[in-house]
Amino acid sequence: MEVKTINTFIQPNQSATFTQDYNRVALEIIGRNPLKGEVRISGAKNSALAILAGTLLCSQECRLTNVPTLKDVQFMGQVLSALGVKIEQNQDVWDIDPRQLKDAQAPYELVSQLRASFFVIGPILTRLGVAHVPLPGGCAIGSRPVDLHVRGLQAMGADVLIEHGVVNASVKGNKKRLQGANIFLDYPSVGATETIMMAATLAEGETIIQNAAQEPEIVDLANFCNSMGAKIKGAGTNTITIEGVKSLHSTDYAIIPDRIEAGTFLVAGAITHSPITLTAVNHEHLIPVIAKLEEIGVKVARESETSLKVLPGELRGTDIETSPHPGFPTDMQAQFMALLTVSEGNSLITETVFENRLRHVAELKRMGADIKVKGNCAMVRGIYRLSGAPVMATDLRASAALVIAALAADGTTIVQGLQHLDRGYENIEQKLRSLGAKINRIQYQS
Ligand code: EPU
Repeated sequence: MEVKTINTFIQPNQSATFTQDYNRVALEIIGRNPLKGEVRISGAKNSALAILAGTLLCSQECRLTNVPTLKDVQFMGQVLSALGVKIEQNQDVWDIDPRQLKDAQAPYELVSQLRASFFVIGPILTRLGVAHVPLPGGCAIGSRPVDLHVRGLQAMGADVLIEHGVVNASVKGNKKRLQGANIFLDYPSVGATETIMMAATLAEGETIIQNAAQEPEIVDLANFCNSMGAKIKGAGTNTITIEGVKSLHSTDYAIIPDRIEAGTFLVAGAITHSPITLTAVNHEHLIPVIAKLEEIGVKVARESETSLKVLPGELRGTDIETSPHPGFPTDMQAQFMALLTVSEGNSLITETVFENRLRHVAELKRMGADIKVKGNCAMVRGIYRLSGAPVMATDLRASAALVIAALAADGTTIVQGLQHLDRGYENIEQKLRSLGAKINRIQYQS
């Protein structure tokens, strides 16, 4: 097959769907080049998605900064526009005018492409008293139900009817606002915590969420809402208290750094034995990731308040079990698996958050990795070196894992399925190239 290097980044907003335009595009990575230098980490995808949904709560204009340029974020922007919100984008700065939020109906074509767009249900319902949002459906990593979101809204006095694939929610009876409630989540779901927290900001009375998710993105969303006048306490712990207010005001808010992008670059440094520096990071958000790297034999030094340096070392195997924050993040499991394939000894990886998040195993095995899967566990036996091969990304973090594996592999790896990578990594190939990686986006010719 003939390949042609095109070397240009496909802008995330150039295609209408995730699958279009990607059939013949791949990354060509020539492995075993040491990396060096500095890389700046972008704003957090998962914060940006929740906070964009959160702008619907506000009846004045808002400015967001440090918004990453990603396909998922562009899609969320399209969902908001379809609801009547005006958005002006200038690089990482988004000026958002949600005053004209008029439509309580989120469009299926958009929600079906981006699961996080279901998160608009809380803000729309609490602001307009009614919301119609299509069920997002499953995705590559699991069935991903929204029952906890729905039960939370019901506890706050919403009537919810799921019909023809759409969740129709309305404030019950003659009450104009949702009512504060005590809500215990069966599982500390990130999305359900965000939905309930947003809905509660404009509800009447106090809402308490117990067994809430504690991820840094929850804290970021709470800080954003509080900057608009919401009264949220306890975000970042397992109990969040929200005192409802009547309306929220304008804000200018900067999104936190992406801890998963940062973790991905730390692992890239570790696997290539390269002392790279990450800037614009928050150390606190990376504690579980840095702890595992240190167990594996890689030190991570704090260079300043907002920068970290990888101090590479001999890699040795370890065990990893994913769990909600402050546990080891499921969004770093695939990248660590890539690292452990070339770490001496045996490692056991247990995925507990999503039921189908080991699909990258088959692709890593194509590169020579020695991995056996049983249920939600993967046993990795460290080998001396991976070898480049054509591989297919199966989801966002799997695509990052394959890129990381390719950086350390002998020869050339061709990574396809880039529609996943572009959802969540801003300019990853430019960033890696600036560190010295041999990586190019290529287009296949038939
Ligand atoms: N769950 C339910 N019912 C619900 C909600 C969740 O059973 O109503 C289950 C899910 O099926 C899953 C588990 O709970 O098994 C965790 O799901 P959670 O709701 O915590 O995840 P999410 O909100 O759907 C966010 C991130 C994910 C990240 C998870 C866990 C966004 C947009 N997505 O998803 O990010 O893996 O939290 O930390 O915030 C990624 O960036 O690659 C990614 C998948």
